[in-house]
This record gives sequence, structure tokens and C-alpha cells, in this order.
Amino acid sequence: MSICFILNGKNVATDSPADTTLLKVLREEMHMYGVKRGCETGECGACTVLVDGENINSCMMLVGEIEGKSITTIEGLTTDGELDPIQRAFAEKGAVQCGFCTPGMIMSVKGLLNRNPNPTRAEIKEALSGNLCRCTGYEQIFEAVESLIEGRKSNNNG
Ligand code: FES
Ligand code: FES
Repeated sequence: MSICFILNGKNVATDSPADTTLLKVLREEMHMYGVKRGCETGECGACTVLVDGENINSCMMLVGEIEGKSITTIEGLTTDGELDPIQRAFAEKGAVQCGFCTPGMIMSVKGLLNRNPNPTRAEIKEALSGNLCRCTGYEQIFEAVESLIEGRKSNNNG
């Protein structure tokens, strides 16, 4: 029996066995190559997606668990060709080098801001502690998130 779910706002279905990882289905069936395959053991965060708004490692979730749920990948963040503000902040702050960690990192930031729109530096660090980056040293990534939050505050006050 097919497993039905919503992917980036569209109804989709998979006939893969229920014990297939969500990562495998997203990449190999749905062609969402922005969902990166890193460690496949839940340690690097490269495969992060949102499930009903919460960030999870798609390599650790089985497709049998996602019936009726809404999955968002990095491909679902752009609207009418416009980058998401998180993507723009990463680009502006130079938070991207090789880019391998970037989609997962951005999806973790999205999940963080969904549950806490105004995180402190410590909360940002904690939220991104499961996303490994071998290039940036993380500082530019934290700065990108902070600049986004500051920008929102000034827009709200302005
Ligand atoms: S590939 Fe999923 S956490 Fe590394
Ligand atoms: S930018 Fe290269 S791993 Fe993060």
C-alpha cells in the first residue's frame, strides 16, 4: 500500500517499503538532492528536513512514520523564485563555503525559528549543535542567524 505525504506543499506517494529511510525516498524517488547524504547515522545533520515544522534528520526517520505528514526540504523554501530570508542571510554573511552542510543547517535554523522566533546566541548554538560544518568555523553561520533576527526586530519596530 502506498504511503502518502505532503512534500513541499504537494501531495505525493511512495511505494517504498515502510522501513526505507525518509532520506532515501526524498533523494532517490523524489529527486530532492538538496537533502544531503552524509553520515546516515544521525550525527552530521546534512539530511535535515522539516516534518510538520520540526527539524529532523531524515536518515533517522522511516518512511512508514510519515503517512499524512508535511515534509519541507530546502527546495521548498523558495517562494516564486525568491530565496527564504534565512538563505539570504547566509549568503550575505558568507556562511556558505563548500555548501555541503548548508541545506541541513538552514532547515535546522528554520525549525529553531518556528519554535523560538527570538533565540539567544547560546540557543542558536545549541540548536545547530547537531549540524556539522567542516569549513566555516560556525561564526558566520551564527552571525547570519543573529542578523536575520535583528533585521526582523528593526522591521517590527520601524
Ligand atoms: S546523513 Fe543524516 S545525520 Fe548525517
Ligand atoms: S560550508 Fe562546507 S561543510 Fe559547511
